[in-house]
Amino acid sequence: MKNNSKPAKPYFDQKPGTSGLRKKVTVFQQPGYLHNFVQSTFNTASNLKGNLLILGGDGRFYNSQAIQIILKIAAANGVKHVMVGENGLLSTPAVSHLIRKYNAAGGFILSASHNPGGPEGDFGIKFNISNGGHAPTSFTDTVFETSKTLSHFQMTDDADIPLDKQQTCYMGEMKIDVIDSVQDYAELMEHLFDFPRIKQLFKSGVLSMCFDAMHAVTGPYAKEIFEKRLSANNDAVINGIPKEDFAGGHPDPNLAHATDLLNKLNAGPAAPVFGAASDGDGDRNMILGQNFFVNPSDSLAIMTANAHLLPGYKMGIRGVARSLPTSRAVDKVAESMGIECYETPTGWKFFGNLLDDKRITLCGEESFGSGSDHIREKDGLWAVLFWLNLIAVKKQSIEEITRSHWQHFGRHYYTRHDYEAIDSDIANELMQKLREKSDSLTGKKLSGQKIIISDDFSYTDPVDKSITKNQGIRIIFENESRIVYRLSGTGTEGATLRIYIEKYETNPEHHNIETQTALADLITIANEISAVKTLSGKQVPDVIT
Ligand code: G1P
Ligand code: ZN
Repeated sequence: MKNNSKPAKPYFDQKPGTSGLRKKVTVFQQPGYLHNFVQSTFNTASNLKGNLLILGGDGRFYNSQAIQIILKIAAANGVKHVMVGENGLLSTPAVSHLIRKYNAAGGFILSASHNPGGPEGDFGIKFNISNGGHAPTSFTDTVFETSKTLSHFQMTDDADIPLDKQQTCYMGEMKIDVIDSVQDYAELMEHLFDFPRIKQLFKSGVLSMCFDAMHAVTGPYAKEIFEKRLSANNDAVINGIPKEDFAGGHPDPNLAHATDLLNKLNAGPAAPVFGAASDGDGDRNMILGQNFFVNPSDSLAIMTANAHLLPGYKMGIRGVARSLPTSRAVDKVAESMGIECYETPTGWKFFGNLLDDKRITLCGEESFGSGSDHIREKDGLWAVLFWLNLIAVKKQSIEEITRSHWQHFGRHYYTRHDYEAIDSDIANELMQKLREKSDSLTGKKLSGQKIIISDDFSYTDPVDKSITKNQGIRIIFENESRIVYRLSGTGTEGATLRIYIEKYETNPEHHNIETQTALADLITIANEISAVKTLSGKQVPDVIT
């Protein structure tokens, strides 16, 4: 038996954030850095030994090297079988599905999601557990503690495995299947949605689409599903070849970054009627109609109200959940349907228990994320298919569906202002001041509106009763307007302050105001309470979504 034990260099900065460990590529390239994190995960997830592991990533720079390192660590730690995506590619939703479908003990997802890639960009790694979802905080805390003191890691000296073709091979006794990245996932989608009906609409020429894969992982998935299986127009997928640096872009499906898609949709009468985009690892989505943007919080509400019309959800919806900063549009729908609506902290991991406990069917976040109980991650292409299926059933445009929803339930005007790369001390000071101030704001009037709740959001998981504190300062007004402040947990440079602002409007005559204009008063209040301009030194946010 070979000695695979190698001395480890402990690192002290491997605390996972909102969604795994994300750092600059150069940080991951430090000697033994990835090895330290992966071995700490193996020490924590003792069930990996003798079992199946799923492995893949979004194809960004360092993806291939990381896969070879993880395979050798897995082999030395006694993993029995690894399924790895061809060319190292697997979207985040596909990993979640594969873990569940093949009863794997867990999976590694290599991605920094929507953060830019390339040698100067970001890299990331996340471990998902046997239900296909994020590891709970107790698990990631143990990994972090282990990583600070690890003395050795286990790794074989095997040669690299070619990943560019589907095949079965071995590293010692560990079996490795290099699998088709797309087929299992595409089958799942076909099972949930009415493909023949959508296909018919494409063939009739009534429906045309443009999907922007943003040079990231969803390209091969989108081509298989939209172009092949659904017979969409043959230019339906743009930027469909995954690139290590996302062609220098920022693979985040929003109005600021999905510019190729916006140009296509605003190209006049010949423009496609439906537009969508997904992010680096395929878990986010943006939905567009011609000259029309669907706010992700509205998307969740509209999905909830209409899910029963689609094959995968015809039995109805158990309950729904949204993260704290997500607008309360879905709350109105849940209330009228008589189902529970849970409010969780930011990050998909908080939905896991609610899904496993069968309390909810759908869930979503304002940050262009939505999903259901079909997997334990948010799912970009799933959301796109949901909307396509809805168009096929309702025979209405994206704009018509959204407007009639507002008419029925009222409209939640919503925006998020991000102040990026602020000095971390200043950002923490800003949050601390807000925290101190928030208690005394309750009961006060601002711009004539009484504040009914002002606190730092704390969440008690209804299933395991775990408590998660300090999840964002929320200020709720009597007229249902709301301001939320929190610091990002996914950035890799300084701190990012996110300010979320929403206003509820029931009168349809007031449903046509430009969003920033509709929210102008609240934006002023939000800026003043936090003194963001003075403290950050920035006069305007870096990104508005
Ligand atoms: C951001 C989003 C959050 C999402 C996460 C992972 O986290 O705000 O909703 O779950 O990315 O995609 P944040 O940077 O705000 O911590
Ligand atoms: Zn993502």
